[in-house]
Amino acid sequence: MEKKLMRAVQYNAYGGGSNALKHVEVPIPSPSKDEVLIKLEAASINPFDWKVQKRMLWPILPPKFPYIPCTDIAGEVMEVGKGVKKFKAGDKVVGFVSPFSGGGLAEFAIVKECLTASRPPEITASECAGLPVAGLTALQALSQSIGIKLDGSGERKNILVTAASGGVGHYAVQLAKLGNTHVTATCGARNIEFVKSLGADEVIDYKTSDGAALKSPSGKKYDAVIHCAVGVPWSTFEPNLSTNGKVVDITPSSSSMMTFALKKLTFSRKQLVPLLLVPKGKDLQYLVDLVKQGKLRTVIDSKYPITKAEDGWAKSIDGHATGKIIFEF
Ligand SMILES: NC(=O)c1ccc[n+]([C@@H]2O[C@H](COP(=O)([O-])OP(=O)(O)OC[C@H]3O[C@@H](n4cnc5c(N)ncnc54)[C@H](OP(=O)(O)O)[C@@H]3O)[C@@H](O)[C@H]2O)c1
Repeated sequence: MEKKLMRAVQYNAYGGGSNALKHVEVPIPSPSKDEVLIKLEAASINPFDWKVQKRMLWPILPPKFPYIPCTDIAGEVMEVGKGVKKFKAGDKVVGFVSPFSGGGLAEFAIVKECLTASRPPEITASECAGLPVAGLTALQALSQSIGIKLDGSGERKNILVTAASGGVGHYAVQLAKLGNTHVTATCGARNIEFVKSLGADEVIDYKTSDGAALKSPSGKKYDAVIHCAVGVPWSTFEPNLSTNGKVVDITPSSSSMMTFALKKLTFSRKQLVPLLLVPKGKDLQYLVDLVKQGKLRTVIDSKYPITKAEDGWAKSIDGHATGKIIFEF
């Protein structure tokens, strides 16, 4: 029997940026045993999506062409695989689509049950769609890499969040403030009041000399840095770190990998930790619950209908989003 078709956005080769995105019709996928089929209401883009198009993970990703990009989606469950226990048709959910299968920028997408979380009706799909990659990265950096207890019970720590106005950074500031922390943040001048409104105690403009040097205005040394910007050498971090200070680099370059190895080999107390997101459904549920409790919010930079996906793609490549860029269906 012929499969029903859905609208999707895909690209056929590496490179080409937003101009290479094609609007197509492809068959609606079917869920396997441990998967759910979701009808999308919203999706969000992350720099990862266009970096894959730029060959960042060649030859691993994309697994083949044509490729439907984007991992972060929210919508309604249409169908579940035989082994799925937690979800049923009609449930509102948010999920992380595996980049190894692709498929997020389409009317329907497949997500593993273990990478899906329930979404209460009072939280919009757009707000939830921002959470998977950016929210989970901020959470993993704070709770796993640094050991911040988000119930506020841990010892007090001074944290620096760089690029605090971006997708990951804006969640990182809010989550850090749930712990027992003093947060210094960097962003551009236009976003200083915005980042303060997220809870940051001190904010520095990254284009000033103190900002470029990552100096805390109050002279605090950082116990940990959630580094969401790029292109900052270890020599800039080093004088700003406390004795056991750690830099969690979420965009590790070859030079930061060298620093990581060197600091390990020399038993340095100051360390650089490269982070690669390992998404988990239970962590995603934790973030959705924080949103429901009013403790975390998604700030939306801009929304694009799926028919204008290339405009949102170009906006993300431009690198100046404040919060998350969302696609709506
Ligand atoms: N390791 C992982 O698993 C993982 C997961 C998620 C993200 N990442 C990586 O993390 C990085 C951040 O992702 P994102 O989604 O947060 O990006 P994003 O939303 O595109 O970040 C844009 C924001 O960063 C600000 N910014 C840029 N350079 C800055 C600097 N030097 N200092 C301060 N602010 C700066 C921009 O402010 P202006 O407009 O004022 O310039 C803008 O508000 C990306 O490289 C991404 O690939 C890695």
